Amino acid sequence: MRKLQNVLVTGGAGFIGANFIHYLLAQPQFSGRVINLDALTYAGNLDNLVQIDRRYGAGATPAPANTTGGATPNTDRSGAAPARYVFERADIRDFTAVTDVFKRYEVDTVVHFAAESHVDRSIVGPRAFIETNVNGTFNLLEAARAAWAHRDDVLFHHVSTDEVFGSLGAEGAFSEETPYDPKSPYSASKASSDHLVRAHGHTFGLPFTISNCSNNYGPYQFPEKMVPLMILNALERKDLPVYGDGRNVRDWLYVEDHSAAIWTVLQRGATGETYLVGGENEWENIRLVRAICEKVAAALGEPPQRYTQLIRFVKDRPGHDQRYAVNCGKIKRELGWHQRHEFSSGLDSTIAWYRDNPEWVQRVRSGAYKDWIEANYAGR
Ligand code: NAD
Ligand code: DAU
Repeated sequence: MRKLQNVLVTGGAGFIGANFIHYLLAQPQFSGRVINLDALTYAGNLDNLVQIDRRYGAGATPAPANTTGGATPNTDRSGAAPARYVFERADIRDFTAVTDVFKRYEVDTVVHFAAESHVDRSIVGPRAFIETNVNGTFNLLEAARAAWAHRDDVLFHHVSTDEVFGSLGAEGAFSEETPYDPKSPYSASKASSDHLVRAHGHTFGLPFTISNCSNNYGPYQFPEKMVPLMILNALERKDLPVYGDGRNVRDWLYVEDHSAAIWTVLQRGATGETYLVGGENEWENIRLVRAICEKVAAALGEPPQRYTQLIRFVKDRPGHDQRYAVNCGKIKRELGWHQRHEFSSGLDSTIAWYRDNPEWVQRVRSGAYKDWIEANYAGR
């Protein structure tokens, strides 16, 4: 069992990163410190960590509103025990800044989430995906290599995606042995980053693990992704845009189950190994959108038809991967992880979370996100 002390979480202000920080700091076996390094792009939001900052941060100051650039303080003003959660606003493309964070916090573990994560954006503007996902990951690896030259009690965990394996037909599932075949600029950039991590392990002896996970859903997900977009549009009685014929299939996993999988790999994963993580929960998009409509209708005590009538089949995503499915037998067998959240109740609690957090929704939808939607999806 690894002992983690100073855990650098990159992208901790995003959807999965923030959920992971909540999860990690709630684990009784974890007594270390989390350093959240995030550039606060449109997808990074310190509102996701307000309770964490209050409970584990240096001061009792509330986190600032959204991406205004303010950071929570890093030192304890009272001189009491050091904070177990600190935030560092930094860009993984900035090697000097990243190196400095490694030094100041004596980082022994990296959990690397920071990325441009939305496939549609990678089609409209792929450059940022190469700069952050490829060059940014390379910077982090180089900073880790320099900082850890004389240490072997360290670990670089890279959080990746099942999309690196490409697209499936009607049968079969991705496994750790599936050859890479990325199809979008996003998945190609993530595949590149996976290769760089393995190359640093092979060539320089950098201790690493990798997880490739399927589609996540749950609280704090930015509402450009399918599940929160459909929930919010239904609640607001706006059109529900389904790409193509709606027959594409995704494998859905509740975000807390993904956090648990990463925590399991951090503690017990074998160095140099890759673990696939998934929900074993395949849904055609159109079926899932209808299910969301039914659940929103039930939550509001209205007939489902009031919501299903909002469904619109729209122009397909270019190069749209047909189907993803993940065989997660290895992490189950070797490390004892399994999914805990059932899909129906996970969706219910996700819908309840978006209903209960209108201010969060309003804030993440303002500013840069609004401008991007206007420029690329006007009228959606
Ligand atoms: P997200 O877009 O919600 O969050 C990304 C975070 O990274 C944001 O906080 C953002 O500010 C930060 N970031 C972006 N560029 C940065 C940079 N240059 N420097 C520092 N920080 C930067 O993403 P997510 O959905 O939480 O995904 C997190 C990770 O998990 C990604 O690596 C993604 O590829 C992977 N993943 C996501 C899913 C999914 O379903 N969302 C599934 C499997 C794997
Ligand atoms: O598989 C893991 C990946 O899942 C992660 O690596 C990515 O970061 C994450 O964004 C997600 O990628 P997808 O492209 O599968 O997710 P998205 O929510 O964008 O779309 C899910 C499916 O729904 C996909 O088939 C496209 C479709 N879709 C999406 C949107 C936003 C629609 O039909 N309409 C929409 O408006």
